[in-house]
This record gives sequence, structure tokens and C-alpha cells, in this order.
Amino acid sequence: MTKKKMASALTVEEKHRLYEDSVQCHEADIEFINKEYKRLFKRDPLSLREDFGGTAAMACDWVKQDATRTAWGIDLDPEPIEYGKKHHYTRLNEEEQTRMKYIEGNVLDEFDFKSDVIVAFNFSYFCFKKRKQLLEYFKKVHQGLKDEGTFFIDLFGGTECFQPMEEKTKHGTHNYYWDCDRYNPLTGEVLYYIHFKIDGVKHKKVFTYDWRMWSPAELREILEEAGFSKSIIYWEGDEEDGTGDGEFYPSEDEENCDSWVTYICAIK
Ligand SMILES: C[S@@+](CC[C@H](N)C(=O)[O-])C[C@H]1O[C@@H](n2cnc3c(N)ncnc32)[C@H](O)[C@@H]1O
Repeated sequence: MTKKKMASALTVEEKHRLYEDSVQCHEADIEFINKEYKRLFKRDPLSLREDFGGTAAMACDWVKQDATRTAWGIDLDPEPIEYGKKHHYTRLNEEEQTRMKYIEGNVLDEFDFKSDVIVAFNFSYFCFKKRKQLLEYFKKVHQGLKDEGTFFIDLFGGTECFQPMEEKTKHGTHNYYWDCDRYNPLTGEVLYYIHFKIDGVKHKKVFTYDWRMWSPAELREILEEAGFSKSIIYWEGDEEDGTGDGEFYPSEDEENCDSWVTYICAIK
């Protein structure tokens, strides 16, 4: 009989490292934003506000791209901010550090600056379960943008996202599990967990997401109500084997599939 290994809790460091290695690809997000912003306004975006920024790895990479770029990373929780300061802020040289700021605060707060781009990635705004709350947030974002301002969010869907199931992805050092525990068809509420397996030990419920699933049509209507002049929704192209090719194009009509992830860009 094989003995199960005893699970000692992950350290805060391990938890954030595993999360970043498993779910983030902010290089691709930045490339997409640069390309789309330039297509819309014929210039490069300079300032970025990363809402729900967590460790704000993206904001740190943003200021590295050009000496005229500035960024803010906003999060309620001091724990990912501490991790970000230790592992990402320290990747910046002294001059770059002057252009990047962590803010421990609520995305619903008033801020004394405006930016070209605001992002809310990894579906973090799904934490607003009521239409009224999401509208309030989108209005605050609208106020926080400069005239040529764009708000980028990501979203996911497809038939699988409503099925209680656990999806495993292998990474170099560990396995990552995306666990849909519950979907309430009457309220649209979902409960997701992230588990990790490392060195033979499965660490369960390292992150918990108690969300509402928002549909693209609902999001675009609420963005319009919040004052955005236009929203663009994208769809990802296919590889020959049917997986996504990482290239997103504006679209209004697509066939549903088991699982999809895409962006909406809302223009001030
Ligand atoms: C899913 S994580 C996203 C982290 C990062 N943006 C990413 O792409 O991986 C959500 C983060 O949102 C933060 N958060 C939740 N509600 C918030 C709020 N009202 N204002 C600011 N941050 C919030 C949490 O502390 C958490 O770090």
C-alpha cells in the first residue's frame, strides 16, 4: 500500500510563484494591448493602471518597455503586494522604480491620476456579483481614464465552465488544477478553486473564487451604461488541432465551443 504524503501548507512565496507560473502570461497581454491601442489611436499607450493587480507583475513589465511609461498596481491585499515588491519591483532599475507604484486599496476608491489604459485581468471583476456593483466599478474605471482611454478585461465561457469538473495542467515543477466546484444556474454564481500538486503533495483550495459568471452581452451593456462610447469583443483564432492560436481578432458572431477565453476592450 502506498502511503499518502502529508501535506504541509505552501508558503506564501510558493503560493504566489505557483499561481504566476500557472495562470499568468502578461507578456502576451501587454503585446495585445499595445497592438490594439495603436490600431485605435495611432500612438503607443503610456500609462497603465492594473486593477486587482495582485503582485502587479504586469505593471512592472509595462514600465520596462519604455522610459516614458508609468504604471500603478492596485490591490486590496497586502500579501501579493509584498510578494510583488520583492520579486518584480526589484527587477526594475532605480529610474524604472520611480515610474511604478503599488497602491494598497480598493478599485472602487477615487484616485488622483488618470491613465491611458486600465486592465482588470484574470476575471477578477467577476467578484462583483450584482449588476449595480459592476456598474459602479465600470463607472469608476471610466472616470479614471484619459480622453484617449481604453479599458481591457478578459472573460471566459463555453459549455465546460458551468460543469462541475477539475481540469489538470502539467507545468515544469508542478500540476495546476482549475476546479469548478459549483454553478448555480439561477443566480449565475460559480465557485472555483485552484489546487497545486508539487513534490507529490496535492495542496487543495490554495485560491478560492466566489464569482458570478458574466456573459459578453451583459458586460457590453453595462460598459455602455457606464459611459463607454464603444466596446470591441475579440475571438481567438484556431490552430489546426482546434486549440487557440493566441491571435485575437474583433468579432461579433462565432460558434460556441467547450471552453473559450477572450478580451473586451471598452473605449472611453
Ligand atoms: C484573481 S486575483 C488576480 C491577480 C492578477 N490581476 C492576475 O491577473 O493574476 C484577484 C485579486 O483581486 C484582489 N481584489 C479583490 N477585490 C478587490 C477590490 N475591490 N479592490 C482591489 N483589489 C481587489 C484580490 O486581493 C486578488 O489579489
